Amino acid sequence: MISFPSLFSYFLVISSLSYLFLAKFNIILNIIYSSHNFIFNNSWHNTYLEPSQYFEQRLPTAIIIGVKKCGTRALLHFLKFHPQIKILGPEIHFFDRSQIYNKGLGWYRKQMPFSTEEMITIEKTPSYFVTDKAPQRIFHMNPNIKLLCVVRDPVIRAISDYVQSISKKTDQEPRSFDDLLFDAKIYASATNMTPRKIDFNNYLFFKNANASLIGVKPKMIDTSWSAIKIGIYANYLARWLSYFPRDQIFFVDGEKLIQEPSHIMERVENFLNITRYMTWKLFEFDKSKKFPCIKMTNASRSKLYCLGNTKGRTHPSVSNDTLARLHNFYEPLNLRFFKMINTSFDWG
Ligand code: A3P
Repeated sequence: MISFPSLFSYFLVISSLSYLFLAKFNIILNIIYSSHNFIFNNSWHNTYLEPSQYFEQRLPTAIIIGVKKCGTRALLHFLKFHPQIKILGPEIHFFDRSQIYNKGLGWYRKQMPFSTEEMITIEKTPSYFVTDKAPQRIFHMNPNIKLLCVVRDPVIRAISDYVQSISKKTDQEPRSFDDLLFDAKIYASATNMTPRKIDFNNYLFFKNANASLIGVKPKMIDTSWSAIKIGIYANYLARWLSYFPRDQIFFVDGEKLIQEPSHIMERVENFLNITRYMTWKLFEFDKSKKFPCIKMTNASRSKLYCLGNTKGRTHPSVSNDTLARLHNFYEPLNLRFFKMINTSFDWG
C-alpha cells in the first residue's frame, strides 16, 4: 500500500517532468525541424529559433504565379535559402485544376511546409498565370497575397517551351521549331487570303500575308501553339489586374535573374519585406551549367547548389529569319505588356 506522502511526491515528480517536457517541446520541435532542414533542404544556415516561435502549416502569403519556362524554378530555388522563407517544392496546381481546388483550402494548407508567423510560405505553379480561374480563386483565399511573376523574352521562352516538349516525346522524331512555328494549318488558312486575327486587341499576327499572292509560302506564326501563345503576356495579365492592384504583383525579369541574380533577389526581398540576405556572396556562376547557382559556405566546406538537368537545357539553333519574324511578332505585344505593368525590360 502506497502512503499518501509518497503518492503526493510521485504526483509532484510527474507534474514537474510534464511541465519541463511541455516547456521544452518547442525547443525539441525546433531541433527536429532544424535537423530535418539540414538533412533534406541542405540549409544549415537556418538560425536557431526561439521557443516562442511556433511552427505550423500555414497558407502561402506569396505565390509565384508564372510564367512557365521563364525561370520560375530558379526563383523558388534561390528563395529557399532565405531564412525567412519556407517553400513548397513541387508544383501543387491547386488554383488551376478544379479537381484539386475542390479539395478545399484545408487540404491546401496541409500540403504546406511548417513555418513560424514571421516566415513567408511560398509555392510556385507557373500554369496559374494562364488559367482563367486562378486570379479569382487566389483573391478569394487572400486578397492581400503577394504575387511574383517571372517573365523573359518570349522568343527565348518559346524555344525553351519547345525544347521541353520534345524532351518528353522520346518515341517520335521531333518536328523542328520552325516547322511547328509556321504550322501547316495556318498556311492552309492563309491561302484564301483572310487575314487571321488573334484574340488580342485585333492585332494582325501576320504581316506577310501578301506573300501567298506571289506563291511564296506565307509562313505565318501559329498563335494557337501554346509555345507562342503563352508569351503574349498582356493577354493573361488583364485578368490578374482586374483582381489585384499592380503593386501587389512583382515582375521579375527572367533574363536579369540569370545575369545579375543578387541584384534581382534584392528587389524580390524588398517586395516581400524580408531582410537582405541574398547578396552576391551567395551566388556563383557555374561554368559547366552556364547558370548561376547558390554557394553555401561554412568553416570547413563550400558547396554549390545548382538546378537539375531539366533546367538550363541546350537550345537548338533557330534560323535568323525565324527569330526576326518572332521578334517582329512579339514587339508590339511586349510594348503593350510593358505599358500595362508600367515597367519595361531590355528584351522589348
Ligand atoms: P531552359 O532549360 O530552356 O534553358 P522554369 O523553371 O520556369 O521552367 O524555367 C526554366 C528556365 O529557367 C531554363 O530554361 C533556364 O533558361 C532558366 N533559368 C534561369 N535561371 C536559371 C538557373 N539559375 N539555373 C538553370 N536555369 C535557369
